[in-house]
Amino acid sequence: MRMKPAFEIRERSRVYVGPVGDLLTGALPEGRVVVVTDATVERLFAPLLAPYERLLVGQGEASKTLRTVGELYERLIDLGADRSTFILGVGGGIVTDVAGFVASTYMRGLRFGFVATTLLAQVDASVGGKNGVNVAGYKNMAGCFAQPDFVVCDPAMLCTLPDREFRAGLAEMVKAALIADGDLFAALERSSFAALREAPEQLRDLITAAIRVKADIVGRDERERGERRKLNLGHTLAHAIEKCSDRMNHGEAVAVGIALMAGAARRLGLLDAAQCDRIVGLLERLGFDLQPPFLWSGCSARRDTTRRASRGRSTSCFRPVSATAWCATSRRRSLRRSLRMPGSEGLPGLRSMDAPARGASRNKGKRSGRHA
Ligand code: GLY
Repeated sequence: MRMKPAFEIRERSRVYVGPVGDLLTGALPEGRVVVVTDATVERLFAPLLAPYERLLVGQGEASKTLRTVGELYERLIDLGADRSTFILGVGGGIVTDVAGFVASTYMRGLRFGFVATTLLAQVDASVGGKNGVNVAGYKNMAGCFAQPDFVVCDPAMLCTLPDREFRAGLAEMVKAALIADGDLFAALERSSFAALREAPEQLRDLITAAIRVKADIVGRDERERGERRKLNLGHTLAHAIEKCSDRMNHGEAVAVGIALMAGAARRLGLLDAAQCDRIVGLLERLGFDLQPPFLWSGCSARRDTTRRASRGRSTSCFRPVSATAWCATSRRRSLRRSLRMPGSEGLPGLRSMDAPARGASRNKGKRSGRHA
């Protein structure tokens, strides 16, 4: 039976929120399906995946490489996969990034869909059609925009996630709330980490709200020519943190990035102290450690952590000295631009923070998303 999707992005990509069993059966096309997943997800969801041929990728950011892509192409050739084969990526952000990229390029492109098994993948990584891998230590340097036919997000699948990975997804939820949904922000404030872990119904509503923010933005700006940059809130700083320290996963680093941007916005007079306190207070209540894991000054020598061709030139995204120093130096104007979002429909009374300025890098960064 064909179910009604919660969202349809650009009339090409359906996003379902609900029980995976029914939804997957309804969403998959007739014909051959090859699953791309990792060993943990394969073990945890063995009955769901048993009917399909499966290809495994390694876990962690180190697997998000062209080498993995090449190996998957070879395995698909061995299996005799052709243009009629459907690729189903089942896992967190790393699996969906790699599976989407392989599917979009093997034999010039196969149809594909995702079952997102981590909170971070459900509210951010699997939705919106960004697929790619890292190259030479640079994040997401090879990839494509290609929308999956569908994404299935089943909150019940999250019960196997370790707390830390679950929390990582909450950072992206807070980000979505800050960008465009004051009610979501208030709902998160009323809730708690423990309650979110234990109340699947409430979680389902919040996941749906967070996806709505992303689906709406991607619907208007699929290729990140403008508004989609909002979805990178906190991510430029997070990326620097991830590059300079192994202590934080992507979501944890995003939480620090959001808090730093809130502090910078307050200092620039773009956010009043009470609103800044609300943002920081929510992140702390959800259990995030908001101390950057190193002294910013120690990182300045490694500022060239991220290079991107941008309007014909390479840019380094961030010179981590300190948020204050950053505001006060030549970056001040960029930061001002990046923080301003007039007419924001976000947190009531909050002049929302935006994505990195034009020309600044916009990395997705490391995705967390490992199950227990
Ligand atoms: N994760 C940010 C985006 O998809 O644009």
